[in-house]
Amino acid sequence: MMWWLLMQSAQANTFMPPAATDIAERVNSLYGFLLWASFISCVLVIGGFIYFAFKYKRRSENDKTAYISHNNFLEFLWSFVPFLIFMAVFVWGWAIYSQMRTFPEDALEVHVQAQKWSWSFEYKNGRKSSGELLIPVNTPIKLVMTSSDVLHSFYVPAFRAKQDVVPGRYTALWFKPKYKGEYQIFCTEYCGEQHSGMLAKLKVVSREEFDDWLANDPYKGLAMEEVGQKIYTARCAICHHTNDQKLVGPGFGGLFGREETLQGGEKVMVDENYLRESIMNPNAKIVAGYPSGQMPTFAGQLSEQEITGVIEYIKTLK
Ligand code: CUA
Repeated sequence: MMWWLLMQSAQANTFMPPAATDIAERVNSLYGFLLWASFISCVLVIGGFIYFAFKYKRRSENDKTAYISHNNFLEFLWSFVPFLIFMAVFVWGWAIYSQMRTFPEDALEVHVQAQKWSWSFEYKNGRKSSGELLIPVNTPIKLVMTSSDVLHSFYVPAFRAKQDVVPGRYTALWFKPKYKGEYQIFCTEYCGEQHSGMLAKLKVVSREEFDDWLANDPYKGLAMEEVGQKIYTARCAICHHTNDQKLVGPGFGGLFGREETLQGGEKVMVDENYLRESIMNPNAKIVAGYPSGQMPTFAGQLSEQEITGVIEYIKTLK
């Protein structure tokens, strides 16, 4: 098992996630060094232990252990050699960490908003996207991140990049992807019952494709309910089914036009105004059987076009 792991680590760390930045490769090297240093130390200590156990085994009742007080040279060696290894690991780790925390001045900035339980992104020109972060290859990217509710943590294993996302303040993270491709973004801090589903895709594309994407309206040529379906997939699907089954919140299937009973016993008809209010101010009218405060507000998160789209999409779900 151990040997298999080591062979894997020797062969460019294939048991690690793919390394898609220079920093990720440096992290792999340090990790490989730690693994080898630990393995060699383990062999020396355990091997020595077994060897001496046999060599100095008590042979007879009168066998006496020789009186040994100390050995300066040996003691120096087993203190100084580990000291050198630890200092090397410290300096090496510090160098990588300082590179991780030194933000390039020419980085392309993207704002990241975390909210239970999705990620949304906004670019300098106002272009927004949800559930998918598109960035150009070979360009330093700086993420300026905040949360609208609780602590989350932004994590891209392929970049070995991870940073807490905190309500009420900004935190930042940078990376420079080397290859085009699709990578997984995780939330890596427990933030409630759908934490494990708080995912997003990171797409690294060519500069031309990125510029084109950045300049173009994502909803061009789409019908209202198609806009709504995109928003649904990125922002609503984690808590709302498209059928009538309850998840965290009610299913959207057959919701429109139904009469619901609120917590206070009052009745309400699910129409456009009720849906809009429930998106913008979710705690205003809670349906009986659901706890308050589960759903975050989407005020300021979705454009008018997107809100209307979601409502039109819900209408199509029977
Ligand atoms: Cu957000 Cu875990």
